Amino acid sequence: MAYKVLSNILVKDTTSTSLVTLNSAMLVVMVNKDTKNNAAFKELDKASKGYISKSISSHLKDDGSSVLLPQVVGTKAESILLVKGLKKDTPIHKWLSAYQTIAKSANKLKAKDLSIMCGNVYPAGKDENWLIEMVAKTIESNVYIFSATKNKTAKQPSLKNLVILTTGLSRANLSKAKQAAKKGFAIGEGVNTAKHLGDLPANHCTPRIIEKKVKAMKKDFPKLKIKSFNENDLEKMKMGSFLSVGRGSDEPSRMMVIEYNGGNPSDKPVALVGKGITFDTGGVSLKPPQGMDEMKWDMCGAATVFGVMSTLARLDAKVNVVGVMACAENMCSAKATKPGDVVTSMSGQTIEILNTDAEGRLVLCDALTFVGKYKPSYVIDMATLTGAVVVALGRHASGVMGNDQYLADMIVDAGEESGDRAWELPLWDEHQSCTKTDYADLANIGGGREAGTIHAAAFLSKFTNDYKWAHLDIAATASYSSPVKAGTGRPVPLLSELLLSKRLK
Ligand code: BES
Ligand code: MN
Ligand code: ZN
Repeated sequence: MAYKVLSNILVKDTTSTSLVTLNSAMLVVMVNKDTKNNAAFKELDKASKGYISKSISSHLKDDGSSVLLPQVVGTKAESILLVKGLKKDTPIHKWLSAYQTIAKSANKLKAKDLSIMCGNVYPAGKDENWLIEMVAKTIESNVYIFSATKNKTAKQPSLKNLVILTTGLSRANLSKAKQAAKKGFAIGEGVNTAKHLGDLPANHCTPRIIEKKVKAMKKDFPKLKIKSFNENDLEKMKMGSFLSVGRGSDEPSRMMVIEYNGGNPSDKPVALVGKGITFDTGGVSLKPPQGMDEMKWDMCGAATVFGVMSTLARLDAKVNVVGVMACAENMCSAKATKPGDVVTSMSGQTIEILNTDAEGRLVLCDALTFVGKYKPSYVIDMATLTGAVVVALGRHASGVMGNDQYLADMIVDAGEESGDRAWELPLWDEHQSCTKTDYADLANIGGGREAGTIHAAAFLSKFTNDYKWAHLDIAATASYSSPVKAGTGRPVPLLSELLLSKRLK
């Protein structure tokens, strides 16, 4: 059950497509200094009797500024949106937001199809294929509108077809451009899948509901191998830590495993492990009521696994990846785990649960021990793990920590490349003492008010000695609360880039 909005993304070259007769609800022209010399644009301008170039000179002042021309006489498009194109040295997030705005205005205008002439300017170090991939990904993931729990009359995305217009591409380059669009579209689909799961209210997205949706993926992508473990199975595997989290809930916990083997059979898989707390009340260590609704997004790590696996399968990617989703509901009841309770993890290490609100690390540690059996080449976990990362890094970057510098570097790199950025925090020996307690091998909290994000990672590191591992704290990036509350689908773009680029060989 992947979640896709557009039905089609095409790449066409203006040497064989006339902008004058182009039948599109919305034609977008990114205007830069070369535009006036572009033959297709000249023809369009001529058909409008110079109205378009006049509009450019009188309306487009600042980079990214735009003017919408409804039904230009002499042209077939229902509207033409002129956008002052960005420059080589414009930061990537501004490029992303320019295309985000275009997607949103297409929905606002109820446009069914959109054609974009991107122009021949790219951010420094990038090329036309990067831009095409980014346009496809950004448009697909920004025409998304959540409506699953609203009335049938609720607003739906109008846009169905996107045409990306290039200029003067050779046949070989056009075929590369089409590949780039396909890749961007599939990543956008993965982003929307993750956004949708995150945006669903917690009573519409329990561990069992997620299990159903994961099993239904098989219909879209028969290549995936899907396994699901119920509480009895988790018990048999001795996952006492994982099970302690769902103890207070009437909703049983589930662990789903999605295997995708598109690579060489002898290549070890990369493992992705996602925190899937479908609602986090904090348990007995109850959270304050303000903003607690936002804890429905506490399963975004698991949603990321879902999204990335659908992207890989959609693209028939030549990689081996195993995704694990550790799903539980953290509630407060007479059966709930209490502060001071000691549980035994699958690794054999006992854990004193000093704070039931530090539950993410309790499900993750057992899932991390579990993936060891795949002998993975690398393991990456994604988790909305700490409020502290919001304070440390703000909403623009996910936090990266781990035990392998190459892996951490590749993650930061893929974040830069995809515009879904991450930043490394240290995880040193000195941070390891935070898990000390007199009553078990480990405590699930420590360090007081200091470095909460790093101390959470230090806890996880006690379970990842057997492989190369990185942890992504996505508490600040997977959703935001202003100006509106919404999931972002991050870090699907980062991880898709990382896995598809084969940086991890
Ligand atoms: N799910 C929360 C972290 C979180 C906070 C995510 C804000 C998104 C926005 C996590 O389970 C949690 O409660 N962490 C505690 C850890 C503490 C008890 C050591 C926190 O950050 O306060
Ligand atoms: Mn919590
Ligand atoms: Zn949580």
